Amino acid sequence: MAHGRVGEQGGTSGPVAPREQRSARWYGGDDRDGYIHRAWMRRGLPNHAFDGRPHIAIANTASDLTPCNLHLDGVAAAVKQGVWEAGGVPLNLPVVSLGETQVRPTAMLWRNMAAMATEEMLRANPIDGVVLLGGCDKTIPSLLMAAASVDLPAVVVPGGPMLTGHFRGTPLGCGTSTWQLSEEVRAGTLSPEAFLRSESAMVRSAGHCNTMGTASTMGLLAEALGTTIPGVAGTPAPDARLLESAHEAGRLAVELVAEGRRPSEVLTRGSFLNAIVALAAIGGSTNAVVHLLAIAGRAGVGLTLDDVDRTGSGVPLLVDLQPAGRFLMDDLYRAGGLLAVLSQVRDLLDPTAITVTGRPLVEYLDDVPIWDREVIRVREEPLLAEGGIAVLRGNLAPLGAVIKPAAASPHLLRHRGRALVFDSIEDFHARVDDPDLDVDADTVLVLRGCGPRGYPGMPEVSNMPLPAKLLEQGVRDMVRVCDGRMSGTAYGTVVLHVAPEAAAGGPLARIRTGDVVVLDVPARRLDVELTDDELAAREPAPAAVAAYAAPTRGWERLYVDHVQQADTGADLDFLVGSSGDAVGRESH
Ligand code: FES
Repeated sequence: MAHGRVGEQGGTSGPVAPREQRSARWYGGDDRDGYIHRAWMRRGLPNHAFDGRPHIAIANTASDLTPCNLHLDGVAAAVKQGVWEAGGVPLNLPVVSLGETQVRPTAMLWRNMAAMATEEMLRANPIDGVVLLGGCDKTIPSLLMAAASVDLPAVVVPGGPMLTGHFRGTPLGCGTSTWQLSEEVRAGTLSPEAFLRSESAMVRSAGHCNTMGTASTMGLLAEALGTTIPGVAGTPAPDARLLESAHEAGRLAVELVAEGRRPSEVLTRGSFLNAIVALAAIGGSTNAVVHLLAIAGRAGVGLTLDDVDRTGSGVPLLVDLQPAGRFLMDDLYRAGGLLAVLSQVRDLLDPTAITVTGRPLVEYLDDVPIWDREVIRVREEPLLAEGGIAVLRGNLAPLGAVIKPAAASPHLLRHRGRALVFDSIEDFHARVDDPDLDVDADTVLVLRGCGPRGYPGMPEVSNMPLPAKLLEQGVRDMVRVCDGRMSGTAYGTVVLHVAPEAAAGGPLARIRTGDVVVLDVPARRLDVELTDDELAAREPAPAAVAAYAAPTRGWERLYVDHVQQADTGADLDFLVGSSGDAVGRESH
């Protein structure tokens, strides 16, 4: 087109030929509908924006109330440059964002809502592909669930971790150090004043938590799944290379549309098994299990809890990061990042699983150096021979429960102890520090009413703080059992995601204080020493079944009525699967 003024005085605003792109169903043609779609979008867009080039949405979870994603507007600007450069049209699309530390009662209550809203907006709008910008815990899972269901060409740019802050000369691991410092206050070894002074040192820069928590894990697993440009995940948020990668992702999105490469081609069973290998090798968050199962459910891949255990067991733990280890995410990036880790377990990866670039993930693992062998171990010198997440079953968890052995105390992995049962997190807080609480180091703390339906939203409460009187005695870990989740930044011998949950009729609702619980991680068992008949004869504890007042309206009502159990990813039953990108009707 001629350069100069456009529109009424000189632009070529005439008929636009039908085009191949999906967006041409909105912008193509010279009828009233095409006119309306184009006219309202012009606002500075040149005429050639509607000449058939791909329109790329930037699904952007930046929000002032999601502090870990605050910098994503800057990342989106870099993506835009890349999209323009490659001949596409970039369009910022703010989507539901979830600040893990801010939303109540728990961000997990809204993961499926964010995924549903994003899916619907990707489908409803005139776009041909999408760049997904996430960071804080639930944002990348919800974006990937949405992308899998709408199946438009998509590439993820993980927002990256923050730089490490320090307090009294010691590196601070977000979350992990908070738990440790607050336990020190409870144990009387740190003053409340010193604890509060650490607050302003905890978050040093833009970016998400710097431990191997859920955000770090899901950013890295997005790469293991093949949904990022390989080598990008884990780039610290303030690092200039993140913007460079964002620019490249913008270019790639245009290429993906041209080649018609969709998430359904990338998110295969092989890519999920690769992600499980990666999860074990990095010692990632237990939350990843629920998220991978949910994404797989959207992608139509039959992934199960048994796949998680079977594929992850035998994978060595190679990354020495908090909460189980010593280092933090900027150390991992400096040491070589995920590709360096995966290069050590290359033989365990599916060589056919491709990435968004069209090349298999394993092709990116040739000659990848490890720059710091303390942070990333070589295969021959692992931190642990098995880094995977163990899946337990037994009469307390017929559908399964998980534990992260790498974050547990080795002496507690086989344990038999008397249960001390709490019906809700409020019940727990009311009683845990009672000096008369009948508890010792061998007691198994059981917390119920915290599952997807019971809370509702499956909060991160499973790593219950230890009773103060035991902390004073020097006890630092106990066996804990819960139908909720725990923060990826937490640690301890915690059995979680117990399914079915108490509120869904699981046996957890039927056990009582004083029952004997047996944990045997090597045998993958979690049992209570009661016969099936004894369990069946008991009434479920009413308080455990309805720990939280049943919601009467809104999203919570929909969620409680339709949420599935943790063993299949806690998605809503009617959101499982894919609807594709087709839109049937228009109402102008
Ligand atoms: Fe956002 Fe930890 S609070 S990643």
